Amino acid sequence: MTLDLTTMLPQLKSFDEYQAAYQESVSNPEAFWAGIADSFKWHKPWDKVLSWDFNTPEVSWFSGARLNISENCIDRHLEDRGDQIAIIWEPNNPQDKYRNLTYRELSKLVNQFSNVLEQQGVKKGDRVCIYMPMIPEAAVAMLACARIGAIHSVVFAGFSSQSLADRINDADCSLLITADGMIRGEKKIDLKQIADEAMEKSPGIRSCIVYNHKGFAMNMQPGRDFDWNTLMEGASAVHQPASMESEDPLFILYTSGSTGKPKGVLHTTAGYMVYSAYTFKNVFQYQDKEVFCCTADIGWVTGHSYIVYGPLLNGATTLMFEGIPSYPDPGRFWSLIEKHKVAIFYTAPTAIRSLEVFGTEPFEGKDLSSLKVLGSVGEPINEEAWHWYHENAGRGECPIVDTWWQTETGGIMISPLAGITKLKPAFATLPLPGVQLAIVDEKGTEIEGNGVEGNLCIKFPWPGMARTVYGDHERFKLNYFSTYPGKYFTGDGCKRDEDGYIRITGRVDDVINVSGHRIGTGEVEDAINEHGYVIESAVVGYPHDIKGQGIWAFVICDREHHSYEELCAEVKSHVTGIIGPFARPDRIQVVKALPKTRSGKIMRRILRKIAEGDTSNLGDTSTLIDPTVVDAIKQGAEEIR
Ligand code: PRX
Repeated sequence: MTLDLTTMLPQLKSFDEYQAAYQESVSNPEAFWAGIADSFKWHKPWDKVLSWDFNTPEVSWFSGARLNISENCIDRHLEDRGDQIAIIWEPNNPQDKYRNLTYRELSKLVNQFSNVLEQQGVKKGDRVCIYMPMIPEAAVAMLACARIGAIHSVVFAGFSSQSLADRINDADCSLLITADGMIRGEKKIDLKQIADEAMEKSPGIRSCIVYNHKGFAMNMQPGRDFDWNTLMEGASAVHQPASMESEDPLFILYTSGSTGKPKGVLHTTAGYMVYSAYTFKNVFQYQDKEVFCCTADIGWVTGHSYIVYGPLLNGATTLMFEGIPSYPDPGRFWSLIEKHKVAIFYTAPTAIRSLEVFGTEPFEGKDLSSLKVLGSVGEPINEEAWHWYHENAGRGECPIVDTWWQTETGGIMISPLAGITKLKPAFATLPLPGVQLAIVDEKGTEIEGNGVEGNLCIKFPWPGMARTVYGDHERFKLNYFSTYPGKYFTGDGCKRDEDGYIRITGRVDDVINVSGHRIGTGEVEDAINEHGYVIESAVVGYPHDIKGQGIWAFVICDREHHSYEELCAEVKSHVTGIIGPFARPDRIQVVKALPKTRSGKIMRRILRKIAEGDTSNLGDTSTLIDPTVVDAIKQGAEEIR
């Protein structure tokens, strides 16, 4: 194990070291994590490394300690690497100028913005909503919240005004930070206008700070809306970071589950810091001065942990990309790697599959020799995409780290260590140190040994885990700790092969993964059902060549005089308006009835099979009120496939 003299975070250097660290993390977890936590700057040391009970569930790491995560991300590096680039920003349009922010420049902005937030009356523990494009100011806003002890709730800028309002209200946010708008690819999005609509439904918002990114026309409401730059001009560049307790909340991030509205998953300060930093350094094997690029959006957990916190905690250079893989051409990823000499590139299988269709021509003339490590996240990566990515982007040389984790886990849980763990395409391979997996059967009994399959649980706490659902601890318990008492249930199924390697097989609940976006089928149904023509609907996922899963909606309508095309267009745009474009159904099948049991439950298992085109064995349908509806649906499905 070598110690990097700047950040002192341990980095495992061989498979033997990984195995030894894993052993140590299981036999002596407190000493293991304390050894890692020692690398950070603390205002006061902890009294106890870990206390936990998965039944209540209560978990606390490093209790009694005090610290500030923004100080660990920024101030700690100023002496040694103040002039090193912290954030490279690559704009949507490659003709526009990119930006480089050094650690010193980032420090100035974060200090100023911390003062701005305080002048706006934001206090420790207050919730601040961030609805921003992929620009450095989004990271500045997050870090400034953390610096003053406010809890940030970043909402992905693809969400509709209704979804934004729901999230603002659920977390009772008092301040909203947004921008005039953004352009992604060729699509213009008026963020301020969407924010205005959301604020009409969010009475708790006292003020809104607006960053003028593109110079779009917008309405500024006097007394409520403030221009970012004007506020920054008058703000001091010195701000003393708040001294936070280890378990003080750091952020809320909404994510979908099987039932109900999206949950505000809450992460706390010290454990998240230690875990995001450790996993970044070890999984990607980051070396000093390398450029790391994660293409996720800051509105999702991957953006939080591996664009902002993980890299900055390690004093790394992190590249933030505003655009999309296909604009202005399908070589964009490869051009940006060449332009900024990216060493580690972390993206989603959907992006890879969407580029695969363009073949190898977009690689021609591009120098990708800076690349050392490739990463994949968000959904299972199929073998074909894995090989294509490896051969073309990785020149057949760069290891691919297929990283499995979740919003709730805070950081990567199962993954190869780049260049260290032997790879197997489509396998997330082995748990990281500190991660104690349990594969269980339907009854919750742990299935030991290799060559097994079941539901994936975690049976021991890790520092990065979520602590609660904001404002609803009972729901936290019910969702994650009640299916298999005493264990955290991930919602995923997995296989452990003969070598002990883990392959994630996908969600086993009513959550679908569309282009790496996690969506509850119930949320889409609620949105569809709100449409005036619709009586009832049922939504399932089906295999989609590019998106991984597509959305198939079975809909019962009460108006027959509209054409099928009109109805589809109506329902699709309705869902876009209520949730956002990424939740728009791909296929809509009008049905007369849904397969229901006598207790009124829709048998989704049957619909899923029909949507997958696998109708040879639909299982037992005898409990249905009317088994004949199944044949009608089967027939209808063939017509729209
Ligand atoms: O089903 C798993 C899938 O994405 C889910 C978590 O989604 P979210 O909370 O939005 O976080 C995504 C980014 C961490 C998981 O329950 N998933 C994530 N990574 C992988 C994956 N499935 C297979 N392989 C992965 N590498």
